[in-house]
Amino acid sequence: MLNFKNKLPYIEDVSLNDVIKVCQTPFYIYSQSVIIQKVEITKKFLGKNIFFSVKSNSNQAILKLMQSLNIGADVVSIGELKRSLSAGFSPKKIIFEGVGKSKNDLIYAIKKNIRLINVESIEEIKILQKLAFEQNKDVDIGVRLNPNIDGGTISKISTGKKTDKFGIELYEIDNIINLISNCKNLNLIGISCHIGSQISNIDAYKNTFIEMKKAADKFSSSGINIKHVDLGGGFHIQYNKNDPKFKIEEVKKELDNCFGQSEYELSFEPGRFLVAEAGILITSIINTKNNGGINYLIVDAGMNTLVRPAMYNAHHNITVLNNQSLKSQTYTVAGPICESSDVFIKDINLPEQNIDDILLIEDTGAYGKVMSSTYNSRALPSEVLINKGDFAIIFNPEKIENDINKDVIPNWL
Ligand code: LLP
Repeated sequence: MLNFKNKLPYIEDVSLNDVIKVCQTPFYIYSQSVIIQKVEITKKFLGKNIFFSVKSNSNQAILKLMQSLNIGADVVSIGELKRSLSAGFSPKKIIFEGVGKSKNDLIYAIKKNIRLINVESIEEIKILQKLAFEQNKDVDIGVRLNPNIDGGTISKISTGKKTDKFGIELYEIDNIINLISNCKNLNLIGISCHIGSQISNIDAYKNTFIEMKKAADKFSSSGINIKHVDLGGGFHIQYNKNDPKFKIEEVKKELDNCFGQSEYELSFEPGRFLVAEAGILITSIINTKNNGGINYLIVDAGMNTLVRPAMYNAHHNITVLNNQSLKSQTYTVAGPICESSDVFIKDINLPEQNIDDILLIEDTGAYGKVMSSTYNSRALPSEVLINKGDFAIIFNPEKIENDINKDVIPNWL
């Protein structure tokens, strides 16, 4: 994504130095053209029914961009639903799922007439029927099924095994069919699944498609007309050159093998695949030190800015802007947070770096800013969007003072 013109760093046609002049590190920067390319590839192979998983990057500028590319929104909380509406998505392009929707969440979604509410338990179907009846509304719903398939990803982001908390097990389909015939306010028109994130194993997709086709046929043969079959997200990206290669073409092949000429309207809900590679976290070196023979670069981004390495042991490649030194060093790059887990990468070879030099933490467009926090009372990072020769700051964090002022000290203290 980064390119050099006359030895100066650029993203698209914007000089990174120009952005750094007006935006304090650490900040996230996204390339619009990379997002557009990823959307185009996804549509080319998986068709037009793509619903962006808002949880991966919920900035309204990104949501607006998705809309302009004719992408829908997949939301998992009332906040994400409100954000998507506020960014201008038509309610009919929004799917609401999530394992823990409160009654208030459901009432809000019913009132907004969104495309589909995907329920994740038998109990939720009963609650939704009662709420829809009280609101005197007919509601289109889907059921999220749990196909009991291990996507082979790390356990923290696996969602498709029967012991995971998500979806309804396949053996319950008969119960759903019986129950739904008594739910006069609910139209069951869709089924969905999502077996996990960062999945490269094509057999996992194939087996999921087979189970979902069987399930859709079973509902349909019992007289429930399933129109939408939503096959989830989870597409893998290469954070590390040693990671397995994932080809979306192969998913398409399995899709055709399984669903062939069937009438179901197939849809997907990717997040990471559309935005991860479009983002870079820009951070400054604030200190250098050697402890126990380890050369530390201490940067101003921390696990509060990008939690993936600390939380999932995730790998993000790091590159430098200052590549003037011919000497290279082995570094460990760590944040300023007072925890030993606040390390981005260990033992990376980089040209010699100094205080105030800038590092680039790559592939951070998904699950970066959205998972950031004010831990250690540090401000949230800004976000910047690049479009050819233009850039805009698309998130302005509050000053930490504003956050401090939200605490209320009771009058007995
Ligand atoms: N649909 C549902 C129902 C989901 O739960 C998710 C992600 C997606 C779609 C989109 O998955 P994607 O295409 O982005 O893989 N924080 C973790 C990832 C958690 C994903 C949770 N669910 C990480 O940083 O790796």
